[in-house]
Amino acid sequence: EKGGWDSFMDKEIHEDPAAVADTLRGRYDVNGDLDLDEVHISPDVFRQIDKIIVIACGTASYAGLVAKYAIEHWVRIPVEVELAHEFRYRDPILTPRTLVVAISQSGETMDTLMALRHAREQGSRVLAICNTRGSSIPRESDAVLYTHAGPEIAVASTKAFVAQIVATYLLGLYLAQVKGTMYRDEIHQMVDSLKAMPPKIQQVLDTQSETVRRTAARMLEARSFLFLGRHVGYPVALEGALKLKEIAYTFTEGFAAGELKHGPIALVEPGEPVVIIVPSSRGRDILHNKVISAIEEVKARGAYTIAVAEEGDPDVGRYADVVFWRPQCPTLLSPLVDVVPLQLFALDMAELKGLDVDKPRNLAKSVTVE
Ligand code: BG6
Repeated sequence: EKGGWDSFMDKEIHEDPAAVADTLRGRYDVNGDLDLDEVHISPDVFRQIDKIIVIACGTASYAGLVAKYAIEHWVRIPVEVELAHEFRYRDPILTPRTLVVAISQSGETMDTLMALRHAREQGSRVLAICNTRGSSIPRESDAVLYTHAGPEIAVASTKAFVAQIVATYLLGLYLAQVKGTMYRDEIHQMVDSLKAMPPKIQQVLDTQSETVRRTAARMLEARSFLFLGRHVGYPVALEGALKLKEIAYTFTEGFAAGELKHGPIALVEPGEPVVIIVPSSRGRDILHNKVISAIEEVKARGAYTIAVAEEGDPDVGRYADVVFWRPQCPTLLSPLVDVVPLQLFALDMAELKGLDVDKPRNLAKSVTVE
């Protein structure tokens, strides 16, 4: 039951920290080495993998897109992310050394199931990342790595998303471990940083909720929103846009910040709300400066700018009308905190509009038809 919360979605957003902690638990040993014996794919087989293809739909596909940045960096093999419904119709290149990763909260999404059947028929191994024990997708896969987010009832996915990111990261670090593409110390450090994330997510919930709600209250008349991000902030922008469209019925578009000048900037007119995911400013990250200039660009055209930025960022305050602050963390882990205010923002917008946040119109929790 809702246990005192106004909606399942509200409850489930507040379970983001636990979803991360529970998905990590038991998957590393005392030294910080990854232990994924439960997957029942031998290290030898993992060592042979030379390409990953993620298949998924909706929110799960954005978790896959986040994973692409981390796994390519750590493991040095290509990671493709494909919407499950597009996958089998284009005759994808699959070999026995391709690992297909099917991500699904429910485990019953027909598009994803059909795609994984196709991959197996072509002789590739399929690993499911799934939140529902005994569901069709893990049953039909060669192996499974469960997310431990607990049951997700609200149609719009929230805690499953952060758990999916963690599961893909565990897979990536494990691959790096068996292939030797990272130093053990680096792996241990990353595991430690992952373990430190639940309290950071909690901090966002504790300190940012009020600002988020106040911002939502001011934006109720907005007819559309643009979301932009770069690097791992790009899939976060897509997910933030999807949440708002799903439950607040607001027209949104998420895009890569670098695309701004190639088209979307034409949409910016005075008052247009633009949400920007800002990378860390530490280490004088070049991406930080580029995203800051994107804010400047839209601001100069009268946009109302809402930034998600790291505490201590010296530049964002000059251009952003509102900032949702995140605690410092490694760049690759920032999606785990950056998505939280965007989940809350969609929830608040929908609630303030008097909509049914758990059961948005026209949508189903799991789509069991192709
Ligand atoms: C959609 C749901 O139809 O399916 C989304 O409304 C979800 O919230 C998507 O992200 C994929 O679902 P699943 O269960 O395969 O992760």
